[in-house]
Amino acid sequence: MAKEKTDNLMNKLVSLCKRRGYIFQSSEIYGGLDSCYDYGPLGVELKKNIKEFWWRSMVHARDDIVGLDSAILMHPKIWEASGHVAGFTDPMVDCKNCKRRFRPDELEKPQCPVCGSELNTAARMFNLMFKTHMGPVEDDAAIVYLRPETAQGIYVNFPNVLQSARKKVPFGIAQIGKAFRNEITPKNFTFRTREFEQMEMQFFVKPGSDREWFEYWKEQRIKWYDDLGIRKENLRFHEHGKDELAHYAAAAFDIQYNFPFGWKELEGIHNRTDFDLKRHQEFSGKDLNYFDDATRERFVPFIIETSAGCDRTILTSLVDAYYEEEVEDETRVVLRLSPKIAPIKAGIFPLVKRDGMPEIALKIKEDLQKYFMVFYDESGAIGRRYRRQDEAGTPFGITVDSQTLQDQTVTVRERDAMTQERVSSNKLLEYLRGRA
Ligand code: GAP
Repeated sequence: MAKEKTDNLMNKLVSLCKRRGYIFQSSEIYGGLDSCYDYGPLGVELKKNIKEFWWRSMVHARDDIVGLDSAILMHPKIWEASGHVAGFTDPMVDCKNCKRRFRPDELEKPQCPVCGSELNTAARMFNLMFKTHMGPVEDDAAIVYLRPETAQGIYVNFPNVLQSARKKVPFGIAQIGKAFRNEITPKNFTFRTREFEQMEMQFFVKPGSDREWFEYWKEQRIKWYDDLGIRKENLRFHEHGKDELAHYAAAAFDIQYNFPFGWKELEGIHNRTDFDLKRHQEFSGKDLNYFDDATRERFVPFIIETSAGCDRTILTSLVDAYYEEEVEDETRVVLRLSPKIAPIKAGIFPLVKRDGMPEIALKIKEDLQKYFMVFYDESGAIGRRYRRQDEAGTPFGITVDSQTLQDQTVTVRERDAMTQERVSSNKLLEYLRGRA
């Protein structure tokens, strides 16, 4: 896609996100904090729905995966064992003039993209972990890190979960939580930020069965995005070549999405072998072997990891759902979010503010809001109210009109096709349950 068109689409999306309360720049009234974002009233619902959708499919719907919520701050030795202290770095070049920093692989020429000064391209390595101090003493002994991935919290809890949940290999541990990376060049709205959420699952398997499980998880994970309503043609796998592989991985595939700024990683699926558990065994001195009762074998399990970005999935859902259409000489902006994750499931409208219609509509709202997030709106022309909900991604519009007064039916308008049907008001719960 041409750069201008790309910028245009991203700018439109950023502005819709602000206008409708999906995503705001963090600390905006202070001029904003670079690469940090806040989720507004609709954004927080979308995020919650996506996390629930992931949790349901990865944990609740399966017998072989359990959940975990480990602390963000962990023993600093964990990051030595994991390889992050020594190797979680990106190359960086400094601009001596404007003091900005860049990744050399993202520069088109040896020139500062901000002030135009010539850059010395001799890069130095920059560790991406945020450091802080624990307790009142700010010396080196008190250094802790904000975790750059949630995975390590799972590995170090492997023996705890194994014993308490009484699981047998193969089984997995899933976790959703914040991760922090001091990215050198965060960009493209929420695509690469310094604070983000991951939805990670680590599947512990017997060595030798890892390749089969790796294939299994690749298929399961790409299907998940399809179930989420992401268009198939915008998803693909990208296999990591030898030069791209992370230090821990024997094989890695990314699920990529066709963003307006190019095909980019949405999720990583990695065969981490026994690297992590062996390193933690070595650094902690604790035995992390698994004993298989049936075969009487002892082994350190291999790990297949599925690592998805929650914020990237949100951005993907929004980009994929954004449409502009010409309707009755007007541009209709519509977010075709799947009803499964749309923040508001239905808008509820009295056609006019009289003849008892608001009272009936409010009663419908009260009944439905016990089960779904719904939104009551009585202000302005009905067409305007529909448009506002189209932009917010609300899949259904329920209108109380004069016929409702006679036969207790309402009009239900479907967002994408804009078709309308009459539904008995006491069947609305059933109607929405079957669709959202
Ligand atoms: N535990 C493995 C791991 O963290 P990764 O490929 O570095 O692997 C996994 O990250 C996912 O986390 C990515 O596919 C992406 O969705 C998300 N992610 C990573 N860095 C991010 C950032 N700076 N901003 C937003 N999401 C990010």
